[in-house]
Amino acid sequence: MSPEQTSEKTNLFVGVNEPVDWNNLSDLEKKHIPFIDAPETVKMNEPFQVTIEVGRLLAHPNEHKHFIQFVDLYADDTYLARADFTSVKSCPKATFCINLDAPFSELRAYEHCNLHGTWVYRKAVKVVEGA
Ligand SMILES: [Fe+2]
Repeated sequence: MSPEQTSEKTNLFVGVNEPVDWNNLSDLEKKHIPFIDAPETVKMNEPFQVTIEVGRLLAHPNEHKHFIQFVDLYADDTYLARADFTSVKSCPKATFCINLDAPFSELRAYEHCNLHGTWVYRKAVKVVEGA
């Protein structure tokens, strides 16, 4: 599944959305990027925290008719964790305890908006052997 650039898309519900130009983000992109906070380097088999936050650059609506339904976290193509959200009563931010047991190279966060489809954010991670 390869993300498509949002400026070229007419249907946000086909494929996975990803910003085109990080130096010139649209408001739609700012509202939907699922940012990842995590260490750049982690030790294999040593737990660490990963936080995913949607709406960091521009708040995403959190209404019954328009909200973030979930975020998923992957290491490369390997599924790690999910957080589901309700409208209004929860906000689209979640922290996970992660323990990588292989030399993955990228953390990926996916978020799904009920009106604007699925979006991805990628953050490089270096997994080194533990002490
Ligand atoms: Fe949305």
